[in-house]
Amino acid sequence: MSRNRSLAVVLAVGLVALSPALMAQEEVLNLYTARHYPTDEALYAGFTKQTGIKVNRIEGGEDALLERIKAEGANSPADVFITVDIGRIWRADQAGIFAPTKSALLEKRIPAAYRDPRDKWFGFSARARVIAYNRDMVKPGEITRYEDLADSKWRGKLCTRSSAHPYNLSLTASMVNHLGEAKAKAWVEGVKANLARDPKGGDTDQLRSVAAGECAIAIANQYYYVRLMRSSKPADRKVVEKVAIVFPNQGDRGTHMNISGGGVLKHAPHPDAAIKFLEYLASDQAQAHFANGNNEWPAVPGVKFDNPALASLGDFKSDEINVAKLGQAQPVAQQLADQAGWK
Ligand SMILES: [Fe+2]
Repeated sequence: MSRNRSLAVVLAVGLVALSPALMAQEEVLNLYTARHYPTDEALYAGFTKQTGIKVNRIEGGEDALLERIKAEGANSPADVFITVDIGRIWRADQAGIFAPTKSALLEKRIPAAYRDPRDKWFGFSARARVIAYNRDMVKPGEITRYEDLADSKWRGKLCTRSSAHPYNLSLTASMVNHLGEAKAKAWVEGVKANLARDPKGGDTDQLRSVAAGECAIAIANQYYYVRLMRSSKPADRKVVEKVAIVFPNQGDRGTHMNISGGGVLKHAPHPDAAIKFLEYLASDQAQAHFANGNNEWPAVPGVKFDNPALASLGDFKSDEINVAKLGQAQPVAQQLADQAGWK
């Protein structure tokens, strides 16, 4: 064998050995996500480390991403869509973008309340909508239920973000489910009548307003409060000193819960990678990440996490209604808020 020929053989063998590795490296998952928490980066890196599948992440506003998926149609490169709040997940589902995912693992790991009965979407983290109050203005035990938010005793003392925001629509949808439409209507009217000011800002702004005494009570997702607990800024710590939170309805149905989650898309070019990705999100490692990174609870029960501030909120009774029902009731919730003039 000439030197040139042996070199060629060595090269050919090398290429054959290399090509599967090259192909494996090229395996990708295209993720469209409306979660824009900086800590999510490490979450996706964990998937790549475990599977070798590269995650191409496209971030965007919730509505913009959904519009993009719809516009791209059958040519969409997106494999998985992840967003926050059942209201948005439900809207995406209504648009027909998800394919059902049959996964024994997801079925076993994710509680029934946090996934679609038709397997089109799954919740991977859970958040509670809690009542916050000013410790100087409200005594412990003075407000214990969502129903209390509409009590005339709180006239002019309640701060909220807009009624049209999915977090509030989902809470209202929960009231529609549990109280029926007529009582939910009265509740929305009571909430509107109790507002200290026109709705503005996000949940953190409501917590700050409670701390400043502009309002005695407010509604917020718990992770905003925990974020302030973990902040190194003195102003944030001051808010936590002034404000306490209550897990509502502990004596009856439990606290209203919401999810962040998503599903595999109907036109996913890499459906196998997509299912693997969802299963990864349900793993102990990824589940703990939701708690450690963004102060949400793992959707999977019993997963250990390392977030003392979140853990300090303690155990509580959560509402076990299937969140799909909160999605279905969004239009009624919106209608009630509009009728009551809760902006
Ligand atoms: Fe949020």
